[in-house]
Amino acid sequence: MAITSDFAPSCIAAEMEATELRGKNLEFLTDLSKERYNHLFKVAEMLEPFWRTGLKLMSGKVLGALFFQPSTRTRFSTELAMIRLGGGVLSESNPGKSSSAAKGESLADHLRTVSQYANIIGLRHPDYSVVSEALSYADVPVISCGWGDVTHPTQGLLDMYTAYRAFGGFDGLRVCIASSDLSRARSGHSFAMGLAIMGAEIVYVGLKENPIPSAVRERLEAAGARLEEHYDISNAEFMDVMATTHLCYLPGCSVPKDNPDARNAFMNKIKEFYITLDNLNSIKKKAGRSIGVMHSLPRNSVEFDYAIDHSEFELYFKQLAFSVPIRMALVASMVGI
Ligand code: CP
Repeated sequence: MAITSDFAPSCIAAEMEATELRGKNLEFLTDLSKERYNHLFKVAEMLEPFWRTGLKLMSGKVLGALFFQPSTRTRFSTELAMIRLGGGVLSESNPGKSSSAAKGESLADHLRTVSQYANIIGLRHPDYSVVSEALSYADVPVISCGWGDVTHPTQGLLDMYTAYRAFGGFDGLRVCIASSDLSRARSGHSFAMGLAIMGAEIVYVGLKENPIPSAVRERLEAAGARLEEHYDISNAEFMDVMATTHLCYLPGCSVPKDNPDARNAFMNKIKEFYITLDNLNSIKKKAGRSIGVMHSLPRNSVEFDYAIDHSEFELYFKQLAFSVPIRMALVASMVGI
């Protein structure tokens, strides 16, 4: 036992500054270093006792929430993060219809306008290239709350925080990410990007016909991701792969109901990856450990057995709870206190 020269009380402001997020945008989880993640997780742990009650760190600060695509979890959780921090929220849940975007205002002008009212913007948008062109017009930091098919970093971040809290870190962690359409699995890819930085092993399971987008693969490779890939495997083979991991992540289907062809294609093909409670119990018996099931939600009944909801394997609703302190940490670090 020894006293060291850096012995001092914890300081949330210092931890926030060490994330180096103040004034920056959040686009991809490969943009942060392992050290910065560790500081961010520390901030989230310090804020976790307040995720239900709140505290006054962001009094007078405002989040502008612009969701050009449907959302329940991401919008509520990001807005709640600012509310729990003591700030306010200006929210557009359907800006394409109810804001001046409906009169043809460009996204660039929209971001510049909202920057005059808000200290930070949470933006969900279907087209990554449109966002890329407009982003520099925002005068305040912008959080990607899901852009196009490639990036949904705060979902990946809450998934990382849930894994961090469940396992205490990422050393030796092996995570399976399974989808019948990896070409649209933006939440799974965001999680993978964060896992790559933290050194966890990533096991993709999918179909050759719906590959990982090249923009995602390039970022994973540049981050030195430890990737293993399995394509077009049977359900029994999927269970064997899953048994070698600690977590199975299902990115779900983000295709809206007004695109039934694409939705049906996903639903028909996801059946090969269906997970039952019996599967998880038999893996536990054989492998001697419980595989946690994570899902970005909303879910569909063809993806997995809802009996898992009441078992030790369920992490998908717990993820929602952990999303609040990590988004509180993110918002406060990006705005600064
Ligand atoms: N996981 C997720 O992005 O959910 P919402 O679409 O409800 O925000």
